[in-house]
Amino acid sequence: MDSKKPELVKEMFNRISNDYDKLNDIMSFGLHRFIKKDIIKNLGFKNAKILDLCTGTGDLAGILKARYPQSQVTGVDFSPNMLEIAKKKNPRIEFLQADCTQLPFENESFDLCVISFGLRNIEEMEKAISEIYRVLKKGGIFINLDLGKPNKFFNFFLKPYMYLWIATMGKFFHGDETPYKYLAVSNETFPSPEELIKIYEKTGFSNIKNKNYLFGQIAAQKTYKVKREM
Ligand SMILES: C[S@@+](CC[C@H](N)C(=O)[O-])C[C@H]1O[C@@H](n2cnc3c(N)ncnc32)[C@H](O)[C@@H]1O
Repeated sequence: MDSKKPELVKEMFNRISNDYDKLNDIMSFGLHRFIKKDIIKNLGFKNAKILDLCTGTGDLAGILKARYPQSQVTGVDFSPNMLEIAKKKNPRIEFLQADCTQLPFENESFDLCVISFGLRNIEEMEKAISEIYRVLKKGGIFINLDLGKPNKFFNFFLKPYMYLWIATMGKFFHGDETPYKYLAVSNETFPSPEELIKIYEKTGFSNIKNKNYLFGQIAAQKTYKVKREM
């Protein structure tokens, strides 16, 4: 599958939902958990309103609730099957089925919006980023975690891993390599952290910082919606 048409993406995640967590752990050697904890540490929230977009099976939503227990965490995804698993894993968190390009929230509702390994799947990515900006309160924080652009040397070793290991694991555990090959292909068309930063700036975000993990294979950007000067 080399298209990001929302219906196809939703259908694919519905299909792989039961294996998603297991495969995520195998493919990343469990490292995604450490990185997710790292990106949301030291935010100093108490009674914040937090939105986890493309929440999938609710991993990051669960990590946020454990780290900031007095905060209200909401997870959003358009795949009902992924959300079903998220709800079972996190009974204290509210999950909603919605498309990230049309969020069902009032303007300036959240203190923090996070999205992990989600933007890469959204055909109208810039529309989703505008929606994030809209629903964030002034002074609110946006954090995006996704695959980055590793340097050429690292990529030389990584590409065979992406195409062969991930597709083989997909076929072995799931009987179908297509969704896992999609992971590699979707990454090739996904903007680099530098290009993403330009999109955030165009949207209105400021004070943007990028942090690389695993030699740039994974990258997180943190940015703020700041009150504009009149
Ligand atoms: C790779 S998973 C990431 C799940 C989770 N955030 C994680 O880090 O493991 C991507 C998720 O994004 C969801 N998704 C993709 N496009 C979406 C959209 N336009 N609106 C809502 N959810 C979307 C998919 O259904 C899927 O659950």
